[in-house]
Amino acid sequence: MAKNWKTKLIHSDAKIPEGFRSLNVGVQRASTVLFPDAASVKDTWDQYETGYTYGLYGTPTVLELAARICELEGGFRTLVTPGGQGAITLINFAFLKAGDHVLLPESVYTPSRKFAAQVLKRFGVEPEFYPPDAGAAIGQRFRPNTRLVWCESPGSITMEVQDVPAIAQAAHRAGALVALDNTWSAGVYFDAFAHGVDISMQALTKYVGGHSDLLLGSITVRDEQAWRRLGSTHQLVGCAASPDDCSLALRGMKTLAVRLKAIAEAGLTLARWLAERAEIERVLHPALPSCPGHEFWKRDFTGSAGLFSFVFQPRFSKEQVQRFVDRLGLFKIGYSWAGVTSLAVAYDFHATQGRPAYGHRLVRLNIGLEDVEDLKADLEQALGKM
Ligand SMILES: Cc1ncc(COP(=O)(O)O)c(C=O)c1O
Repeated sequence: MAKNWKTKLIHSDAKIPEGFRSLNVGVQRASTVLFPDAASVKDTWDQYETGYTYGLYGTPTVLELAARICELEGGFRTLVTPGGQGAITLINFAFLKAGDHVLLPESVYTPSRKFAAQVLKRFGVEPEFYPPDAGAAIGQRFRPNTRLVWCESPGSITMEVQDVPAIAQAAHRAGALVALDNTWSAGVYFDAFAHGVDISMQALTKYVGGHSDLLLGSITVRDEQAWRRLGSTHQLVGCAASPDDCSLALRGMKTLAVRLKAIAEAGLTLARWLAERAEIERVLHPALPSCPGHEFWKRDFTGSAGLFSFVFQPRFSKEQVQRFVDRLGLFKIGYSWAGVTSLAVAYDFHATQGRPAYGHRLVRLNIGLEDVEDLKADLEQALGKM
């Protein structure tokens, strides 16, 4: 059929060579997915079962990333979300209903805490915050309607490592599910499923992305039942991950092992160096005995990441701590972490927030890929100017 040029813009007959092969996963962007005939049309979210149906449930680029995360974490299946916080909220939507009780550690990522305290509460779910060091003692907090227990290990900013197996045992005895924010371990230094977790999420924004240029999350589940619940909720919540971002994350995965190794070594070197400084009261690095729950890190983790905090001696004022951060040159000031650039943020934590009373004296560092001696020199000159 002869076509008008305007039709050719949409239905082209142009030919290119076939047989292209490269080392990279292609970027497949799509909302519409084509069916071979009218009878084949269906709107099923589980594309593992039926083949591709709609871009919302993932193009091959998105599913490739999901499958590779699942392979690393050793789960049943993984779903990719537009961000880490999106993964947290989707887990809550999928596994909770009005009238349920949910447990979260006091050390949980603040937006996760706020989602529970504000949004879940509005939907009739009751959140309760427990001390991150609860371990088996969490058993006392279960009620007949406790449906889900969150863990985050180590906790955000204050870095408490949790006894996840003890919490999981208590949860399963009470018939509750365990969800873990496994971002710090990059999904590789802590085997969530071997330690009793049912749902493991990561902010892929962090170590998997690794370059501070994307936002993605992942949810990996232990079994098919959880997969059905999650997938059917994801379909209706409608939060699709961008194939472009997934392609960047797939590139990030290729260098994850070498980045983690370099970052872990530099992080430990700097944490140990800071622990010797007279200005510092305490270093909160899971691999050091001064970190709460260090014994669980030693027992359960196979490595450490480059994110840790430290607490200045009580004699330092808030202004002095902020001046320290401002005087850093290589360490930049900003949220998020796990990129190649070192970062520093000062926090003000009081016991009223359910956190240890470090007050204004806490600084969190993200260690990047700069030379470790240069980073040490930067910290040293800034300490000298306090
Ligand atoms: C431990 C942890 N979980 C989840 C998130 C949320 O990830 P995202 O920024 O991709 O929404 C963050 C972000 O800082 C985080 O630190």
